[in-house]
Amino acid sequence: MTPGKFITLEGIDGAGKSTHLAWLENFLRGRGLTVVVTREPGGTPLGEKLRALLLDNSQAMHAETEALLMFAARREHLDKVILPALARGDWVISDRFTDASFAYQGGGRGLASNRLDDLERWVQGEFQPDLTLYFDVSVALGRQRVNAIKTADRFEKEQDEFFQRVRAAYLQRAHKFPQRIRLIDSSQPLDKVKESLHDIISTIC
Ligand code: TYD
Repeated sequence: MTPGKFITLEGIDGAGKSTHLAWLENFLRGRGLTVVVTREPGGTPLGEKLRALLLDNSQAMHAETEALLMFAARREHLDKVILPALARGDWVISDRFTDASFAYQGGGRGLASNRLDDLERWVQGEFQPDLTLYFDVSVALGRQRVNAIKTADRFEKEQDEFFQRVRAAYLQRAHKFPQRIRLIDSSQPLDKVKESLHDIISTIC
């Protein structure tokens, strides 16, 4: 049996993660793998309650409170869902993980990255995803896609400058961890994005 792998999907809001996540899940299941699909913040009953607080656009909070709640939800998620699934040999796909904290709370909110490094070490030690797919789109295109879909949550309500910083932080991380983080140009037509996705995923399963 292929041992399970942990794959995370990242991108600014509107990058198209959800569409690609569904494709990826089907692809892996088609290969006979057991797949657990989950998301952050969230993925556990407590994590989903924290998610509701974090995304509630009527509730302002300090940037450090936001970061601490993200990592609190992550601690629970690792303990209850991610690590047990990997121990069973399942594959885990998470819609966002720690790179989002470096991008949104680090880049977007301006928290010092050594603060986030400390939280990362505390919550997950050396544990990292086996593969991170970063879907890159311009802020303008991401914004256009979000507006077409839903009412804005607390993050989506932010100004373009916020998302420019989030995107820049993602790009910086993709540059820093080129083995783990694979950048996919998500402004391409859907078929092209799927082709890239297929090429990348075929190398690990
Ligand atoms: P998102 O994953 O975009 O879900 P949906 O597609 O339902 O909108 O929403 C989660 C939001 O949480 C997103 O705006 C990014 C933010 N986020 C952080 O700021 N830090 C984190 O560590 C994580 C995991 C998410």
